[in-house]
Amino acid sequence: MKAIEIVDGIHWIGANISTNDLFEGMWPIPHGVTINSYVIIGEKIAIVDLVRDWAGASTYLIDELRSLGINPQDVDYFILNHLEPDHTGDLRAMYELSEKAEIITSKKGVPLVQAFYGLNEKVRGVGSGDTLDLGKGKILHFFDIPNVHWPETMATYEASTKTLLPCDAFGSFGAFKGSIFDDSVSQADHKFYERESLRYYANIVGPYSSSVLKAIEVLGSLEIKIIAPSHGLVWRGNPTRIIERYLVYANYMNYYAEPKISIICGSMYGHTELMLRAVLQGIASEGVLTEIFRVPNDHISYILASVWESAGLVFGMPTYEYKMYPPMRDALTQIIHKKAMHKKVFRFGSFGWSGGAQKEFDALIEKMKWDIIEPLEFQGGPTDADLDLAFERGATLAREVKQIPIKLKEFP
Ligand SMILES: Cc1cc2nc3c(=O)[nH]c(=O)nc-3n(C[C@H](O)[C@H](O)[C@H](O)COP(=O)(O)O)c2cc1C
Repeated sequence: MKAIEIVDGIHWIGANISTNDLFEGMWPIPHGVTINSYVIIGEKIAIVDLVRDWAGASTYLIDELRSLGINPQDVDYFILNHLEPDHTGDLRAMYELSEKAEIITSKKGVPLVQAFYGLNEKVRGVGSGDTLDLGKGKILHFFDIPNVHWPETMATYEASTKTLLPCDAFGSFGAFKGSIFDDSVSQADHKFYERESLRYYANIVGPYSSSVLKAIEVLGSLEIKIIAPSHGLVWRGNPTRIIERYLVYANYMNYYAEPKISIICGSMYGHTELMLRAVLQGIASEGVLTEIFRVPNDHISYILASVWESAGLVFGMPTYEYKMYPPMRDALTQIIHKKAMHKKVFRFGSFGWSGGAQKEFDALIEKMKWDIIEPLEFQGGPTDADLDLAFERGATLAREVKQIPIKLKEFP
């Protein structure tokens, strides 16, 4: 494949990954993912972020570089915005091919270059305020954006073209479908990338939302014409769109998200499932958007994405060995770990003799700042009175969620 010019002197040299592997060993990517590297050509040549040897990515990168008449040994700098191995995995191989190249990374990145790749020569630590002049008008400015996604993360800004290369920030799952640019994909594909950016955000970046907000503040002082992240579309038509989207996603942690209810249910013998129907009818009576998941069947990646953008959550699960039905505990633990705060929540479920699920649920969610609608536990199968109550609780939750204003232009 050939390199793709983004703007004068900056080219995409990444990889469109299609694989059955899981991203980070845990997130499904049935629609692929891209690992974007960029080469910036002044008198000196810099590659910003690399790839790992995954589904042919390293070969693609070198072929694309060569399509510009550049060989690895011509490269002067490897700029590493972020040391996660999806962007650095082939660093050692590239470094050995490129005898003169210097590694530029954040000050916190320097020890990680040593730890992951055993390299400490020709490694320079930079920070906010530092610049690197490549010649021919190409000047790189560096900005620390810690914890978006690791503590060492930085962003690189090429001033003459006003191009921001922020690595994982503003990224998305989803392989390219023919174009790498936001201004040449269809509206339907924008919808696809929007869902995949939400899933990426909720899976990867969500817990660092306060750092995302700080990064947007820091980078907000820049005039940005192009955003070239390390995963997903290159935003040259409307870069504001992805900034706004990330701003909204990050703020979901600080205030109720969108007027939508994510429902997560697990049931061994169908009694809890019976009550789910009544809850759903109650929600439907108020016309609120829902998304329904079953544990353990549905993957947590999709559950997290839905939970992240929903103001309302419903958990339905029975008691199991005096605690919560274990697949629900697993899902809830991930939701808590990802810091899906500020939700309106209703929980229900069946028990056989003692119960216990509710107690564990209450203990787990203690710090989540969730508004709890009175839970509904019942012994064995639900009675008609139980089902009426379930309908009412569903409707009550939906009425509360309906009041939450829409934040994302593209919602639902
Ligand atoms: C392996 C197992 C362990 C259970 N442990 C408890 C328990 O500790 N306390 C309790 O009250 N019920 C317990 N139950 C009973 C279930 O909570 C009860 O059957 C419930 O109706 C199951 O709901 P479901 O039909 O939605 O799966 C257990 C059931 C199973 C199969």
